[in-house]
Amino acid sequence: MRQPLVAGNWKMNGSRDSIKALMSGINAGLSSSDRAQVVVCPPFVYLDAVAGMIKGTKIAIGAQNVSHESAGAFTGEISVSMLQDFGARYVIVGHSERRALYGESDATVAHKFTATLLGGMVPILCVGELLEERESGKTEEVVARQLDAIVTHASIKGFEAAVVAYEPVWAIGTGKTATPEQAQEVHAFIRQRLAKHSSTIAEKVQILYGGSVNAGNAEQIFSMADVDGGLVGGASLKAADFLAICRAAN
Ligand code: 13P
Repeated sequence: MRQPLVAGNWKMNGSRDSIKALMSGINAGLSSSDRAQVVVCPPFVYLDAVAGMIKGTKIAIGAQNVSHESAGAFTGEISVSMLQDFGARYVIVGHSERRALYGESDATVAHKFTATLLGGMVPILCVGELLEERESGKTEEVVARQLDAIVTHASIKGFEAAVVAYEPVWAIGTGKTATPEQAQEVHAFIRQRLAKHSSTIAEKVQILYGGSVNAGNAEQIFSMADVDGGLVGGASLKAADFLAICRAAN
């Protein structure tokens, strides 16, 4: 039985004050008997503050990005060991915004994935197709390419300690959610693709859905057989909405 997981990707949002309010709302609404693992992914500069706010709770911290280098002359970059120093356990790698806006290729993402694992952290690998790719019937081809790049670089064993997030790019921040059936179809495909290398690992890996998840649609999406939770953007910035999504995953 896979443990459900809900991760809030705050992207480039928040301030010291808003984060304090958000975290106290989230802390107040979660119970220690909840089944789902809850992860919050603040911007780097707020990691320390959030680490102080999750002490004694079951919430884990994730980063939104990482360098594949371990240290040195890489201005503006943050290493895996720095993230660990601040108590982070997860790292989002290959988010479509990083692929599209910052030119991260499958190879870059694979390097980051491996560096995260080698440093003892858990990568949340994002995969997903653009609207025109879906419309031209290329969804599986794109997702397969993105997964295969990681398997080639990190081997299937990399997925023993990783999470996958299926985030159709057309559903991110658009209010257009994939239907539960559309999500299930791709999640099942991801599992099958990994099962070609190891059915045990494919069966165990948590696959999250991301793209306009909200308090109203989470339960239906999470009820699908191969959907193990969500990677939530906009709705993770409001405590009540995020809590409702976490409850839907329990
Ligand atoms: P939204 O939930 O705002 O669509 O964002 C999804 C996402 O990109 C999470 O990583």
